[in-house]
Amino acid sequence: MDKRPVGVFDSGVGGLTVAHALKQLMPGENLVYFGDTAHLPYGDKSEEAIRQYSEKIIEYLLSLDAKAILVACNSASASAYNYLVSEFDGKVIIMDVITPVIEYVVNRQYKKIGVIGTKRTISSGVYPGNITEKSPGTTVVSLATPMLVPMIEEGFIYDDISNRIISAYLSNEIFEGIEALILGCTHYPIIRNQISRFFNFNVEIIDSSKIVAAAFRNLLESHNILNTGNNGTDRFFVSDYTDFFGKIARMFFEKEINLVKSDIWAT
Ligand code: DGL
Repeated sequence: MDKRPVGVFDSGVGGLTVAHALKQLMPGENLVYFGDTAHLPYGDKSEEAIRQYSEKIIEYLLSLDAKAILVACNSASASAYNYLVSEFDGKVIIMDVITPVIEYVVNRQYKKIGVIGTKRTISSGVYPGNITEKSPGTTVVSLATPMLVPMIEEGFIYDDISNRIISAYLSNEIFEGIEALILGCTHYPIIRNQISRFFNFNVEIIDSSKIVAAAFRNLLESHNILNTGNNGTDRFFVSDYTDFFGKIARMFFEKEINLVKSDIWAT
């Protein structure tokens, strides 16, 4: 049993939805989470900037003895995953949040599915490109929905304003006839049921957090580094702290947590 922590990072607090799913499945794992709140949103940043940020964060997580790292951000996964895997080859195993979802979708052979995410994730074309390559019979339509992250962070969820914003995006005719919708952003599980309701519960909403947690568990198991205990210790770091981040972190992790500022950019 390997008691070293697992490292999880995101541009901010959204990745806590994945960290939460991970802890539900693997309560014994010790978690070190890093939210790069000084640089969010990643969804509007260049690929180059996101690669630099992610590289520095992984070095930091390694300094905390992380045995494996999960990139809990779609924007970082889309822009930096391949780069990070080659940069840290032989040093640490890294998993992204996109590959497991692509595998899940490909196995189901849908006729038509949709993807929503940040501008960075959608403009990368990573979901449609990989899915149609592996499952040529599947049509994938995608739309950047950049207002959803600030909407969720400001607490506009399950109310009239958020219903209207969701409807403005998802009424787009490209989504006509989809069988499933991928939530391609780690903030979106918070509004999963609201989106499901928009489609009258007729469209499968693919929330990556559980799929990714299961894939990450398999990865740890296959490397013989899974911690099978049941009471791991969790630590949460952010590159910039405000009371606002402290307050909303609870919504994403579903319990009170203590965010500690660690300015890794100053070193
Ligand atoms: N959580 C990030 C993602 O999954 C979105 C937030 C951001 O743009 O930084 O892409």
